[in-house]
Amino acid sequence: MFNRLPAPTLDPILQVMQMYRDDSRATKVDLGVGVYKDDTGITPVMRAVKGAERILVETQDTKVYTALTGDPAFHAAMIDLLLGDTVPAARIAAAAATGGTGAVRLAMELIATANPDATVFISNPTWPSHNALADKARLKRQSYRYYDAETGGVDRDGLWADLAAAKPGDVVLLHGCCHNPTGTDLTADDWAKMATFLKERGVLPFIDIAYQGFGAGLDEDAAGLRHIAATLDRVVIAASGAKNFGLYRERAGIALVLGPQEERATVSATLGALNRASISFPPDHGARIISTILGDDALRAQWEAELSEMRDRVNTLRSALATALRDECGSDRFGFLADQRGMFSVLGGSDAQIKRLRDEFGVYAVGGGRINMAGLSLDKIPQVAKAIAQVL
Ligand code: LMR
Repeated sequence: MFNRLPAPTLDPILQVMQMYRDDSRATKVDLGVGVYKDDTGITPVMRAVKGAERILVETQDTKVYTALTGDPAFHAAMIDLLLGDTVPAARIAAAAATGGTGAVRLAMELIATANPDATVFISNPTWPSHNALADKARLKRQSYRYYDAETGGVDRDGLWADLAAAKPGDVVLLHGCCHNPTGTDLTADDWAKMATFLKERGVLPFIDIAYQGFGAGLDEDAAGLRHIAATLDRVVIAASGAKNFGLYRERAGIALVLGPQEERATVSATLGALNRASISFPPDHGARIISTILGDDALRAQWEAELSEMRDRVNTLRSALATALRDECGSDRFGFLADQRGMFSVLGGSDAQIKRLRDEFGVYAVGGGRINMAGLSLDKIPQVAKAIAQVL
């Protein structure tokens, strides 16, 4: 029967990863997959992570299964990191998942179980997996406009016009910070308006936050999420420890469901049952590294310092690339790069132009012109700026 399987199409990010790997040029530049690299082109294990791993080696005395929803200490640490004291823990059901992607999938399965008729509204553009995950969870989806390529800001007219179609029981998927792929986030006013709209309309907010700490700071990046959590009775959150803890391959993610206290036990049990039917017990090593770091003052301070370093580096690269492009183009048309936040921005460009960047200049961007700022280095900026100015 497998001979009848059609070959799957890789999503655009994975296609770029593959093409980059296959390119033997020493001058190639990887601005594809969202992975942080330091000035030497390495994605290091964070020092705080090493510290936590040393503690685990010394103190962990079993690797026996955790609960179906994962380790409660991981839940508590992530709830505190994401929400502070916005919502009492008794209102939050939590489940560890296989990375941020697994958390999005788990949350979507939960939504599909509770309301198979729900439509999920997903920003256009978005991280390609959002659409794929909704399809696999058999949820209907609809896109809403989000990005104004002319200004590099939010397309507010488009966004509100498209969200007007949401009905009670539908879901709006929002990026908590560092919107992927545009680097353009909602402002505090936008979040306030969103909270009011969702509450009045009876629409469920589903916030995917994979880059907390990469935008303006840990608390700043969670401000929109916290406002929504403080305003609405029910909120779904998917969070990742891949980027801000550099734990990419450990698959440390969590799904949180905020709701009335009396619903918590059932939601929690359902999350556990969904895990059981897909991965059984969730992975624990990354989760335990995170709870160890967040529960230890010295490790936490070290981690926050390292995260600030990464954030500052990305912002420095943003400004440097915007300046280099202004010099190359003689215009400020890429000035938005300096203002946007997180790993990604979108340069625009046709498929043919993105291919030209790749083939002629060894610069690897994702279709639509998404570039990963965190893959750049200062010494590569002149080459990248020249290529972009010539092609786009
Ligand atoms: C990205 O958008 O590049 C990252 O989130 C990595 C991934 O899995 O796609």
